[in-house]
Amino acid sequence: AKGAAMVTAVASRVQAQRKQIDKMLALFQLTPEQLVGVRDKMRVELEYGLKKDTHPLATVKMLPTYVRGMPDGTEKGKFLALDLGGTNFRVLLVKIRSGRRSVRMYNKIFAIPLEIMQGTGEELFDHIVQCIADFLDYMGLKGAQLPLGFTFSFPCRQASIDKGTLIEWTKGFKATDCEGEDVVDMLREAIKRRNEFDLDIVAVVNDTVGTMMTCGYEDRNCEIGLIAGTGSNMCYMEEMKNIELVEGNEGKMCINTEWGGFGDNGCLDDIRTQYDKEVDEGSLNPGKQRYEKMTSGMYLGEIVRQILIDLTKQGLLFRGQISERLRTRGIFETKFLSQIESDRLALLQVRGILQQLGLDSTCEDSIVVKEVCGAVSRRAAQLYGAGLAAIVEKKREDQGLEHLKITVGVDGTLYKLHPHFSRILQETVKELAPRCDVMFMLSEDGSGKGAALITAVAKRLQQARKD
Ligand code: GLC
Repeated sequence: AKGAAMVTAVASRVQAQRKQIDKMLALFQLTPEQLVGVRDKMRVELEYGLKKDTHPLATVKMLPTYVRGMPDGTEKGKFLALDLGGTNFRVLLVKIRSGRRSVRMYNKIFAIPLEIMQGTGEELFDHIVQCIADFLDYMGLKGAQLPLGFTFSFPCRQASIDKGTLIEWTKGFKATDCEGEDVVDMLREAIKRRNEFDLDIVAVVNDTVGTMMTCGYEDRNCEIGLIAGTGSNMCYMEEMKNIELVEGNEGKMCINTEWGGFGDNGCLDDIRTQYDKEVDEGSLNPGKQRYEKMTSGMYLGEIVRQILIDLTKQGLLFRGQISERLRTRGIFETKFLSQIESDRLALLQVRGILQQLGLDSTCEDSIVVKEVCGAVSRRAAQLYGAGLAAIVEKKREDQGLEHLKITVGVDGTLYKLHPHFSRILQETVKELAPRCDVMFMLSEDGSGKGAALITAVAKRLQQARKD
């Protein structure tokens, strides 16, 4: 009888623990009504950002990019491209051949050390120019005066295609003396300081725009660019007549929405959890980019870590012991989340991954960790889907269509590497925008190729104006 009582006691303890864990997971399960709410709020913010009166205070900034059209296939030439702001910094040489729409690329990846990401602006740009010099050397191109497209994946206010004032850093960057400055000027000055070569900087481009352009080169229906990577953002082609910030009513222009800032006015507070708040408070830009912090690769692992700490405190994980490792910021990179959630992986392998991260887990622990990762990434994909549904619905209504067919160019490690993210995102868009037929097109190296294509178009237009 004693044994039976003990078994019952253990069973009821396990049951109570399960309840606590389920309660925590439930915080991340959004109801269909909540998702509709997110879609509708996003729609409101998109409109705010476009209107002159509300633009200054809008959290979704809706920045005009001065990219007015898609490449038409006549672009050609050799271009340099820089790609700053994603997982890596890269310098590329892009050769575009007209007619056949073929593009060849050579690139080199450079690390940007943390001290430089968070040092002074001069140091950052000197480092960039150092990398360009290495690359030119490596390619045997020293002295070549190539047109350059600069993919700079941060919010910039543009007054033309070759000017971009950094509004504020996002993601992991925090170099001083850059906010409020024109990044093209900063690059030009760093090139001058080095006094070794000259470059013709033609365009500054957001990664979303590069992605849209790359896909638009192959599919004319591609009018949206989406990044689900380190950061979260979307751009799309908007009718000029709806862009109050730019003169003229003819044609279209690409708008960089900077939707990562969605929720910064508190409009998502009903669905943000204590874990989201902790991640925000521990970040480089507290209070900013709240939607990005619920959806993108740089933060999802941090949300997971906050939850695991809390579950451990409650005695529900890791035998109640919070290890030094678990206290360490940034241990859960996107690639670990992707691995842990892979269905091909046995639980033993999940334990192996946790072991690699320095976390000693039991079999039960690994089940819980996998559930936590699933809940966090599922919510992220659904939030992306709700955001995207807002923009495709807007485009459908603006065009007065019963039914809209549209292609979205996508890039980013989360979208490409995670085993479930893209499927959940797509399912959510279908549910929340049933009258839109949305095709997703993976972009091959959108940031590099796109910057070169935009540079090529800009060069062609420059030339046309001169002639
Ligand atoms: C951040 C940046 C944005 C970029 C996105 C994806 O949200 O602010 O400009 O597009 O990350 O890299």
